[in-house]
Amino acid sequence: MKELIAKLPKAELHLHIEGSLEPELMFALAQKNNITLPYKTIEEVKNAYNFTSLQSFLDIYYAGANVLITESDFFDVTWAYLLTCKAQNVLHVEIFFDPQTHTSRGIAFETVVNGITKALQKGEIELGISSFLIMCFLRHLSEEEAFKTLQESLLFKDKILGVGLDSSEVGHPPSKFERVFAACENVGYKIVAHAGEEGDSSYIWEAINLLHVKRIDHGIRCDEDATLVEFLIEKQIPLTVCPLSNVKLRAVSSMREHNIINLLRKGVLVTINSDDPAYFGGYINENYEAVANSLHVSQEELKLLAQNSFKASFLSEAQKQHFTQMIA
Ligand code: HPA
Ligand code: ZN
Repeated sequence: MKELIAKLPKAELHLHIEGSLEPELMFALAQKNNITLPYKTIEEVKNAYNFTSLQSFLDIYYAGANVLITESDFFDVTWAYLLTCKAQNVLHVEIFFDPQTHTSRGIAFETVVNGITKALQKGEIELGISSFLIMCFLRHLSEEEAFKTLQESLLFKDKILGVGLDSSEVGHPPSKFERVFAACENVGYKIVAHAGEEGDSSYIWEAINLLHVKRIDHGIRCDEDATLVEFLIEKQIPLTVCPLSNVKLRAVSSMREHNIINLLRKGVLVTINSDDPAYFGGYINENYEAVANSLHVSQEELKLLAQNSFKASFLSEAQKQHFTQMIA
């Protein structure tokens, strides 16, 4: 299985670039930028990365992102991620970034976008990895803040394909951002949102009906509502599932209890992704392996998951065909 997984061409559709910041690079940037971290050794980091919920992770994740200051810092974290993609046969990526995490600390929007984009362009040329960039709004912040960020992003619209919604889910339902996402739709951004990770299935319905998402990030709580599962199947609305993240953040009790393969067998367009690989103990292949090791998955099903990752992407129909045909 491990060999097959390594060889499969894959797309990654749910990856927070700030979540790919490995401790070694975090320490180096902290030193360069004169920033004090809550930990001094890798050992202390490993102890701190012992999460009990989404919020307990987010506190640590935002503290880590503080070391990103200059354009070259954003370039470096993105480039390091792309090198892991190359090593794991990930041929296409759709990357999230959280501009508000950085602009709220006084970092310019253009510093963030330019650093990430320069690495993505180099990745296309030198590594042959195609990429899109998706800007996420932090759902714990206000609608007004989201509108301000949308406005700022418009100068860089040629570099940003779409918008998403992340951070602390419960208490911040998609409906809070209905007007912002309508404005995003109007300017032509593709729309996705995190929903049904910790929030219940009503968050997924809201993301579909009020935000008009093209796919759902996580979405694993959909199976609380049989009508919703049928709807996802009928409309082929993809779920970008992140198995290691779900176990680490206790959205599911163990990998054996994960519903991804049941959903796949029912006909839901599920995909496997890494979310925040530097924090959850693995990149995309480790997520495939964790699923294959704990659930009974056939080789054909692993191939289907890899095909789904291209089908669920924002690539053109011709590009989707090109990639899925590579997986026979
Ligand atoms: N959920 C919500 N917000 C996030 C996540 C996640 O999995 N990762 C980074 N920000
Ligand atoms: Zn996520």
